[in-house]
Amino acid sequence: MGNTGSHTLVLGIETSCDETAAAVVAGDKRILSSVTLSQIEEHRAYGGIVPEIAARSHIEHLDAIIREALTKAGVGYEDLSAVAATAGPGLIGGVLVGLMTGKAIAAARRLPFIGVNHLEGHALSVRLIDEAAFPYLLLLISGGHCQLLLVKGPGSYARLGTTIDDAAGEAFDKTAKILRLGYPGGPAVERAARAGDAARFDLPRPMKGRPGADFSFSGLKTAVRREIERLGGKLSSQDVADLAAGFQAALTEALLDRTAHAMAMARPQLGASPTLVVAGGVAANGYIRRALEELAASQGFRLAAPPQSLCTDNAAMIAWAGLERLRLGLVDGLDLPARARWPLDPHAPPAIGAGVKA
Ligand code: KG4
Ligand code: ZN
Repeated sequence: MGNTGSHTLVLGIETSCDETAAAVVAGDKRILSSVTLSQIEEHRAYGGIVPEIAARSHIEHLDAIIREALTKAGVGYEDLSAVAATAGPGLIGGVLVGLMTGKAIAAARRLPFIGVNHLEGHALSVRLIDEAAFPYLLLLISGGHCQLLLVKGPGSYARLGTTIDDAAGEAFDKTAKILRLGYPGGPAVERAARAGDAARFDLPRPMKGRPGADFSFSGLKTAVRREIERLGGKLSSQDVADLAAGFQAALTEALLDRTAHAMAMARPQLGASPTLVVAGGVAANGYIRRALEELAASQGFRLAAPPQSLCTDNAAMIAWAGLERLRLGLVDGLDLPARARWPLDPHAPPAIGAGVKA
């Protein structure tokens, strides 16, 4: 049965951002447990994530979250085949907490240890629920990342595009903040947009029509701010709804344009029945999902989207990436460092512009 059967159990640990998470996943794709503790309430007053608060909170909660994941799965440390923990990229204090805890468990129990790239967790999570075969095209849209990647297999990626400034989720969060819709912004903007007229404000579609598949969103956020100033700073609830709808439509149109370019770039490598996978927290947005479905259909692609519980940060995706690597013998030493930046494609050229997100 090797490392693929129901007897292979991997404990996954995720602490790279503002979720403290642990999960137990079996080699036959059963998620035996997936426990996620969100720190949203601890950060809300600051309108964004405070790294020091995040790291401290991970330290305080991780042991109990791991115990809960094992209990819910009905297993003990002695039943595990390996331990996988996020080793980056992310907020370094938090990454260190999960990585050191994972290494300690592996050392104490003499288990193989796998340091997982958080982005690889997002990239492979779809395979927990879908037969998506390599290679496939991935649109990763989250609070920290916005990338288009050709996923060839564990450890093997070609980046087709990335953001030169904000990530898509970051753009939602910042726009929500200036519209006073609260944090996290994505769900609030989507909700407000439902009552809005997307055509009332003329907002830019950044990068649309430009060659390649890179993204840019900071200009869009600035354009929203300018419209608010033009309205004299005082917004009615209809103004807020119209701006939210306009922003969401503009961002989505930019996403579609960039994704269409990446489809054309990757097509020769994707075979006769190409698949587009969408992952990351922003993939929870219904308007964006529907737009991507239409794009995929028009281009002859199948769209595969993990359920929301696997789209937002979680530890099941880390355990699963660990299983995929374990299967290939890709285990790590206990000297593996934590990394704040860790691109999936180390050969990708920097995006045109500045401040590239890894
Ligand atoms: O993947 P994720 O949980 O964490 C990161 O790795 O960043 O993504 C969180 C991001 C936040 O920026 C949040 O505002 C955004 O996903 N998000 C959404 C929606 N739900 C979450 N953005 C747009 N529409 C949504 N419904
Ligand atoms: Zn993430």
